[in-house]
Amino acid sequence: MGISAARLDGITATQADAGDFATYRTAAPADLVVLAGVLGNISDGDVQSTIGALPRLCASNATVIWTRTRRHPDLTPAIRGWFADAGFAEEAFHAPSDVLFSVGVHRFHGQP
Ligand SMILES: C[S@@+](CC[C@H](N)C(=O)[O-])C[C@H]1O[C@@H](n2cnc3c(N)ncnc32)[C@H](O)[C@@H]1O
Repeated sequence: MGISAARLDGITATQADAGDFATYRTAAPADLVVLAGVLGNISDGDVQSTIGALPRLCASNATVIWTRTRRHPDLTPAIRGWFADAGFAEEAFHAPSDVLFSVGVHRFHGQP
C-alpha cells in the first residue's frame, strides 16, 4: 500500500543507508524517533554508539520508542543506562515475562 492510499500525507519515506548520518539530515531535529528492529541487529558497541548519537537527531522533548529482544545475554539493562547517560528519561519499559521482546519509551531532556 502506498503512502497516499494509506492516507499518510505529510510523511516522507526514504530508502537509504540507516547507518549513514547523512540519511537523517532532513529529519533532524526529530520529535519522534522509532528504533524498531534496529538495536537487536547491530553489535553491542554500535547499540551504545547509536544511543549516544541520538541527541544529534532529537529535538528537545523528543520521544524515542525502541525495541530489543531480551534473549540471553539481555542487553536491555545496559541500553536503559545508555539512554540515561545520553540525557533521556525513561517513560516506559514494557517487558512481559512470557515473551522475549521488550519496548522502551524514552524522552529527551538534554540539549540537542
Ligand atoms: C528486524 S528488521 C525491522 C524492520 C522494521 N523496522 C520493523 O520493526 O518491522 C531490520 C530491517 O533493517 C534493514 N536494514 C539493515 N541494515 C540497514 C541499513 N544499513 N540501512 C537501512 N536498512 C537496513 C533490514 O533489511 C531489515 O529490513
